[in-house]
Amino acid sequence: MKLFPTRLFISIVILSLSSCSSAQKKKANFKKVTTLEQKVDSIFNLMTLEEKIGQLNQYNGFWDITGPVPKEGQAAKKYEHLKKGLVGSMLNVKGVKDVKALQKIAVEQTRLGIPLIFGFDVIHGYKTISPIPLAESASWDMEAIKKSAAIAAEEASAVGLNWTFAPMVDVSRDARWGRVMEGAGEDSYLGSQIAIARVKGFQGENFNSNKTIVACAKHFAGYAQAESGRDYNSVDISEEMLQNVIFPPFKASVDAGVRTFMNSFNELNGIPATASSYLQREVLKRDWKFDGFVVSDWGSIGEMINHGYAKDGKHAAELAMNAGSDMDMESVLYVEHLSTLVNEGKIKETDINDAVKRILKVKFELGLFANPYKYCDEAYEKATVGKKEFQEGVLDVAKKSIVLLKNQNDLLPLKKSGQKIALIGALANDKTSPLGSWRLAADENSAVSVLEGLQNYKGNTLTYSKGADVAVGKTQFIFETKINETDKSGFTEAIALAKQSDVVILVLGEHGLQSGEGRSRSDIGIPGVQQELLEEVYKVNKNIVLVLNNGRPLAFPWAAENIPAIVEAWHLGSQSGNAIAQVLYGDYNPSGKLPMTFPRNVGQVPIYYNHKSTGRPSIENKDLVFWSHYMDVDNSPLYPFGYGLSYSKFDYSNLSLSSNSFDKNGKIEVSVTVTNSGKVTGKEVVQLYIRDLIGSLTRPVKELKGFEMIELKPNESKKVTFTINEKTIEYFSANKKWEAESGDFKVFIGTNSAETIEADFKFNN
Ligand code: NOJ
Repeated sequence: MKLFPTRLFISIVILSLSSCSSAQKKKANFKKVTTLEQKVDSIFNLMTLEEKIGQLNQYNGFWDITGPVPKEGQAAKKYEHLKKGLVGSMLNVKGVKDVKALQKIAVEQTRLGIPLIFGFDVIHGYKTISPIPLAESASWDMEAIKKSAAIAAEEASAVGLNWTFAPMVDVSRDARWGRVMEGAGEDSYLGSQIAIARVKGFQGENFNSNKTIVACAKHFAGYAQAESGRDYNSVDISEEMLQNVIFPPFKASVDAGVRTFMNSFNELNGIPATASSYLQREVLKRDWKFDGFVVSDWGSIGEMINHGYAKDGKHAAELAMNAGSDMDMESVLYVEHLSTLVNEGKIKETDINDAVKRILKVKFELGLFANPYKYCDEAYEKATVGKKEFQEGVLDVAKKSIVLLKNQNDLLPLKKSGQKIALIGALANDKTSPLGSWRLAADENSAVSVLEGLQNYKGNTLTYSKGADVAVGKTQFIFETKINETDKSGFTEAIALAKQSDVVILVLGEHGLQSGEGRSRSDIGIPGVQQELLEEVYKVNKNIVLVLNNGRPLAFPWAAENIPAIVEAWHLGSQSGNAIAQVLYGDYNPSGKLPMTFPRNVGQVPIYYNHKSTGRPSIENKDLVFWSHYMDVDNSPLYPFGYGLSYSKFDYSNLSLSSNSFDKNGKIEVSVTVTNSGKVTGKEVVQLYIRDLIGSLTRPVKELKGFEMIELKPNESKKVTFTINEKTIEYFSANKKWEAESGDFKVFIGTNSAETIEADFKFNN
């Protein structure tokens, strides 16, 4: 590698004393610099082209856990790259010891001593696991979601990490896609609020403390719209959909100050997202003025060869850099080809400069130049990981994430004494499944199971039989774990227990590793032998509480029809069993609301509340054939978006508007009275929707535009008021800009997207 002569260092380096490591200080002739840009330039101006390219290179961990011995082959090459200053970031390095060892090489052995930034998939917790993001979204509680991200950041930063690849803000409408578990569901407005909460939770106010980490909005863009819900599949969607549905949570993340973005594996309208200048340069960096950096998804630069878009690795690197992908995650193509591509004039050095400066800026913001070991304190790590307060925090959000779907004859909450309760199900005493699929650093068997949670309530007689089993796949590969599909040998014992009990709690659903990346399913029923087990138990005891564990909406029409009580408990993380037990026994009154529509069967998918009307919407005379419907299933979902019951009962009345119209720069206020006519105190998420009746582009039949969580004692009423202004009704119109169009609107307020009371108003532009 070509080095700058030492005297060049001395004349160029302008570093602030407070913002560089001792290695850099030794090499620098200090002059006072103050702005972030000056700090970045002070390093940037010293860099060779190779060193700049090195900053754009991210490697997966290659350090031998047992000591500082690089592995053979590729790992050894990567290790050499690290020593030469040709690595800007590492991912998947766990623990202070390993982080520190690698950072030491970057800081002490490379020419410029530029620190590494360490990324990890801290998606819903590091070692202490919070509910999967889809579950947390069901809480509709932005403070709880923010706190959960802050806990994850605090724990992850204690092990040396300073960057998470979260939040995933892809709006997801297709339950077949396994990664719906990782997002906030089907709605752009709710998704935007949650994106803000998560970004702020991870990043805090700033990076001055060592408890906050850089967040990453992903996957930009359209990844969740994979055809037929199959992960990594192609995506072909309109600009109208991108702008109105997909982009809002990404834009909200930028506005909330997210420092990094990740692009996506999919092609979007014929161009892989990784090579999309439209997405990365035009929308993100130019229109939204995003000044952080973009990392590719794992190997997505190289995958452009498979897409049939790049002819080889060199071409792929050229396409990705020209499109504004700043950092290469694991393709190893930037470090191999960018230098040649610059020399050949195929990419501009100014584009590389821009990417490098973005990365250096984030490293400065993190304070890594001032102290590269800021996140590396082994004693603090020991004292922090798995802290009691973290467990309390994830229990709190787990309770809030549970959604009560059905409660016929008030079967729930359970009586606290004198009952014989049978607990049945493969997942009822599983201590790994509740951890979900993104729990790379959690210990196996570390979650509280439902059995353990229920055992804390001593007043009843509790018996347990698993009925069905959890099995691992043919290859015995842990990631293939699923519910047994053939073995019914446990049925007899379970049925016998059910027969002699007052109430049966069946814990059924997907194993935690049956959703997530690469886990698309074409059948979204209750998997394996569990549906049959449920029906067999029902034959001997109808007092069933069905507790569902799943990472996506499931279709369970038989259960919805026949089972008296159904609780949606997702994959709730480390404290799962305690959260479920507290809800079943009424120590927490359920308040969650579905962030995704639950279909009646997989054929309805994608199904979402904010669909368009069509020219032939639902009609009165169902004898006619020629309207938009199925011949074999109703158009309505099993459970609509925003749905969720409580042990309280909430009545809505007195919808009133401050005026029936408003003009540009004006507003109206919409109020409703909510009364708790139940017997216990409870929380309700009051939801505001609008419909724009005629638009220059067709508009959805309903769009969420606001919500407020209130708590009401029995017989208590509260007036809830929302403001509607131009911002509320604007959208990306036929004029290809965000605007509010004059016309007639409906406003709806209610307990979910399907049960609302409504009124009309006008907007005059
Ligand atoms: C691929 C996934 O799509 C992405 O979300 C994740 O952050 C990376 N792998 C790194 O693990």
